[in-house]
Amino acid sequence: MDLGIKGDVAVVTGGARGIGAGIVRGLAAEGAKVVIWDRDLEPAEELASELVAAGHEAFAVRGDVASGEEVRQVIAGVVERFGGLHILVNNAGFSLDGPITEMTDEQWDRVNGVCLKGVFNTCRAAAPTMIAQAYGRIVNIASRAVVGDVNKSNYSAAKAGVVGFTRALSQELGRHAITVNAIGPGLIHTDRVKTTPFYADLDRRAREMTPIQRPGLPEDIADAVLYFASRRTGFVSGEMLFVTGGRH
Ligand code: NAI
Repeated sequence: MDLGIKGDVAVVTGGARGIGAGIVRGLAAEGAKVVIWDRDLEPAEELASELVAAGHEAFAVRGDVASGEEVRQVIAGVVERFGGLHILVNNAGFSLDGPITEMTDEQWDRVNGVCLKGVFNTCRAAAPTMIAQAYGRIVNIASRAVVGDVNKSNYSAAKAGVVGFTRALSQELGRHAITVNAIGPGLIHTDRVKTTPFYADLDRRAREMTPIQRPGLPEDIADAVLYFASRRTGFVSGEMLFVTGGRH
């Protein structure tokens, strides 16, 4: 099925690794021009080189989504270079887990600064271009943790905030033919999650509670992003899609 996104300009935050890299590959395979935006430039450049060598259009850019000023510069650079911005995927994020009795201000602020304020920063910077085009697809990577999870009060709060933000923005930007949707991945086997302090416990609970008996992969999230990024799904907005292998 043709998703109609050949030639569309797509920006993926946190695109250098893990789920973001899977999303980048999925969009590139559908013919989008993909901007791989990460705070770490080297792995972003490596992925861009690999995709360009395979005949795709990809471009790496460094920037911290938590910084409103850096975000403004990155988005302005993308619009200047490509003349537009059609698909924005807010994927950059991480968890800094811990029990509430031990959670520091830094743990709270860093997670909320990237996972929640970072999404606000990029959407605010991209909205004028999407409004002027009268077209846009915004896809926010939230988490299954919006329903709550042990040791994740900071992360669950940030990701639930992303869902509220998604719904509000879908109502605000709908009249410009801009859709805004969110995805809630279950446990996805990326290098980062495997190094988190509570990984063994997370993995055990995910295995026990997930009906589909295999690990979640970045490609699973990429396919859901492609659905929302498609030119064929312009009447789907303000939705939250769980991609969890059936886990609730
Ligand atoms: P990852 O650590 O493998 O990749 C995240 C990428 O984002 C990295 O390349 C990192 O350098 C970049 N990044 C982090 N902070 C950034 C910032 N401030 N500015 C720009 N780039 C930044 O992580 P993973 O596992 O692929 O997660 C991606 C997203 O999916 C996150 O938002 C995460 O919360 C969410 N998620 C992940 C799940 C999982 O099980 N892996 C489950 C549910 C949600």
